[in-house]
Amino acid sequence: MRKILSIVYVTILTFSMTAKAQKNTEKNAPRIIILATGGTIAGSGESATKAAYTAGKVPIDDLLNAVPDIHKYGKISGEQIAQIGSQDMNVATWLKLSKRINQIFKENLADAVVVTHGTDTQGETAYFLDLTVNSEKPVVLVGAMRPSTAMSQDGNRNLLDAVMVAANPKSQGKGVIVAMDEKVFDARDVTKTSTTNLETFKSTNFGPIGLIYDGKVSYYYQSLRNPSKKFDVSKVNELPKVEIVYGYADASPETVSNLATIPGLKGLVYAGMGNGNFGEPVGKALSDIAKKGVLVCRSARANSGRITLENEVNDAELGFVVADDLNPQKARVLLMLSLTETADRAKIQQNFFEY
Ligand code: SIN
Repeated sequence: MRKILSIVYVTILTFSMTAKAQKNTEKNAPRIIILATGGTIAGSGESATKAAYTAGKVPIDDLLNAVPDIHKYGKISGEQIAQIGSQDMNVATWLKLSKRINQIFKENLADAVVVTHGTDTQGETAYFLDLTVNSEKPVVLVGAMRPSTAMSQDGNRNLLDAVMVAANPKSQGKGVIVAMDEKVFDARDVTKTSTTNLETFKSTNFGPIGLIYDGKVSYYYQSLRNPSKKFDVSKVNELPKVEIVYGYADASPETVSNLATIPGLKGLVYAGMGNGNFGEPVGKALSDIAKKGVLVCRSARANSGRITLENEVNDAELGFVVADDLNPQKARVLLMLSLTETADRAKIQQNFFEY
């Protein structure tokens, strides 16, 4: 009889402890809004073992239903912002996302935001949001390399991890971050490095700022490049036109001069060889286009390192700015945003050293 009583007691105690834990979690649970944009994380294929699939097919509610444990980390709700492969990501969707996140935080609708996104342009979107979202609250981007229908898909785990990272108070004040494949990256530094590997995201100069394992995140570093002054895009409906041109051995100057004919071109990022270098004919074409008022930024096609100002190239004389350690596609993001405020070369150069 004593044994039965003690079993009943232990069962009641366990039940009430579980119920209490759930209640506490409910009461203090952070409110997390997931903004879905599509990508492979929402991809669907006909076969679980074949590589072919279509990105951006599965709606956010289905993604959430596939990961019931997600609700342990907070009060989760989802919104569909777009349903595209991130190859089709565009300035209009960046502005829509940024404005929505700023509104969510301004109106105190959530404590953190997670953005699901294709991996192809995830780095650019993360950096755009990093430069335009004005809040200390966590914004976490996440994607997947395998579609939701694949065997050993990575999306469910990545989504759960991203929500866990967003719910963690230590994720505040870090700017926009990317949580992928058990790592956390700073938006400014992260880039996709492999077309197909799961471990595709890397910060080639500095490494991840945190590691995720077993439902926990540990932070190790924090970027010093997270200026408190953000670009205000609240009244912006389009960005100045900036294109990228690639450098290579024996490139024709027409690769640059033809771009000058694009209507409304305001900036050009040159993805140069080595320290942002060019052959002579391309250098002349870049300088000519700069003299016509197009802001030319030298960056590197190499996937790490930085471009040094006035070192191998007379930047001031030729009318160029340098991208510092930003890759060409991120240099384009900062150049477009900078050009919404100024066309002054020196001020824009300063932005590349500060942001
Ligand atoms: C995309 O970027 O939308 C497709 C590729 C991916 O998400 O991994």
